[in-house]
Amino acid sequence: MDIRYQLKPRAARRQKPFLPDGPLPFGQLRTDHMFLMDYVDGRWIDPRIVPYGPLALAPGAVALHYAQEIFEGAKAFLHEDGEIHAFRIDKNAARLNRSGAGVLIPPIPEDDQVQAILSLLDVDRLWAPHQEGASLYIRPFVFGTQDSLGVKPSSRYTFCVFLSPSGPYYPAGFREPVKLLVTRRFHRAAPGGTGAFKTGGNYAASLMAGHVAHEHGASQVLFLDVTDTYIEEAGAMNHFHVTRAGELLIPTFTETILRSITSESVLELGERHLGVRVRQDRIPVEQFLDDVRSGAITEAGGFGTAAVVSAVGSYVFDDATELRVGDGHIGPHTRKVYEALTGIQRGKRPAPEGWLFLAKRVESTARPGE
Ligand code: PLP
Ligand code: COI
Repeated sequence: MDIRYQLKPRAARRQKPFLPDGPLPFGQLRTDHMFLMDYVDGRWIDPRIVPYGPLALAPGAVALHYAQEIFEGAKAFLHEDGEIHAFRIDKNAARLNRSGAGVLIPPIPEDDQVQAILSLLDVDRLWAPHQEGASLYIRPFVFGTQDSLGVKPSSRYTFCVFLSPSGPYYPAGFREPVKLLVTRRFHRAAPGGTGAFKTGGNYAASLMAGHVAHEHGASQVLFLDVTDTYIEEAGAMNHFHVTRAGELLIPTFTETILRSITSESVLELGERHLGVRVRQDRIPVEQFLDDVRSGAITEAGGFGTAAVVSAVGSYVFDDATELRVGDGHIGPHTRKVYEALTGIQRGKRPAPEGWLFLAKRVESTARPGE
C-alpha cells in the first residue's frame, strides 16, 4: 500500500516527547495525524495520513442512521529503548474483518491495516506517553458513508485510524478493584445478533445498562445470556474468575461474546507464563455467585485492551445488596496475570514471537509531502 502523506507543517506538530503531568485520561487526547482510506466502486483507494480533524460527511450517511460501523481498540507502548511497539495488531486487523463480515462492510487486507497503524505511530511517535500505565491507544474504525436512507449496506466506506495517548480505562487504574452490577434487566446480545462483532450499535445498546450500573455505584453491568443462566461479559471487557484450587476461568466464546484479544493472550500464555491454569467453560451465574459466597471462588475480574486486567472487588444486585469477592482486594493470581501481560506489552518480559509490532522509524525527510 502506497500511503500519501499530507502532514501538518513541522512547526505545528508535537516537537518534544510527550511527558504528561499527572494521570492521563482514557481516550480524550488526540495526536497530530490520522490515517484515512476510502472505499469507492468496490475498491479501497487513496490511503493517506493527514492532520487529525473533522471529517466531511453527508447528513444522510448510512452509518449515522443505521450504525453500519465497526471498530477496534489496540495499544502501543513506548519501550525503554525509545521504540514504540504495538501489541498484537494483526489480531485486531483480523477481528475488524470478522466484524465487517457480520455487518456487510468490505474487508481491508490485514497487512494494509497493520501498515496503516505502524505508519501513523511512526509519524506521531512523539505523542507516546512515558508514564507508568499509559500507552498510545489505537482506534481503527470503518463506517458507511453513502448518502442513502434505504436500510441497505452502504456502497461507500471510510477506514480511519487515530491515536489517543491514554491512561487507564478505570480512573483508579489497577490499584482499585471495580464493582459490577449483576442484573437481569438488560442483555447485551442475543443469539443470531451482533454480540461477537465489534460494531457501534452494541455499545449504544449498552449505554442504559451502563447508566443504571453507575447509579448502583458499579462500573459496568455483568451481562448474562438471554436465558439469564450463564455469565457472558461486561460492557467493555470479558469476565474471568479464579477458583480456590488455583484455576482461572473465562466464559467460553459464543456468538454473544466478543472474542477478546486480551483473553486469547492469557489463554495462550497459560500456566507456563502465568503460574495459573487457564481454561474456558460455560459459567452458570447462580453457581458462580454461590461459589463466591462460599469462598470457592477467590478472585474475579475483567480482560480487555482498555481495561487490561481489572480486578472485580464486588458484585452489586438490583436490590442494592452486595457480594464481596475474596477480601475485596486484588488477589495474587490477578496480580500475576496483570504483571505478566503488561510486562510483555512494555518490553520488560520476553514477548512470544510475533506479538509486538515495531513502529517503523522512517526518516521524515524521506516522506513525500513534507
Ligand atoms: N468485550 C467487549 C464487549 C469489548 O468491548 C472489549 C474491548 O475491546 C472486550 C471484551 C475486550 O477485548 P480486547 O481484549 O480484544 O480488547
Ligand atoms: C477496548 O478495550 O479497546 C475497547 O474497545 C473497549 C471500549 C473502550 C469500548
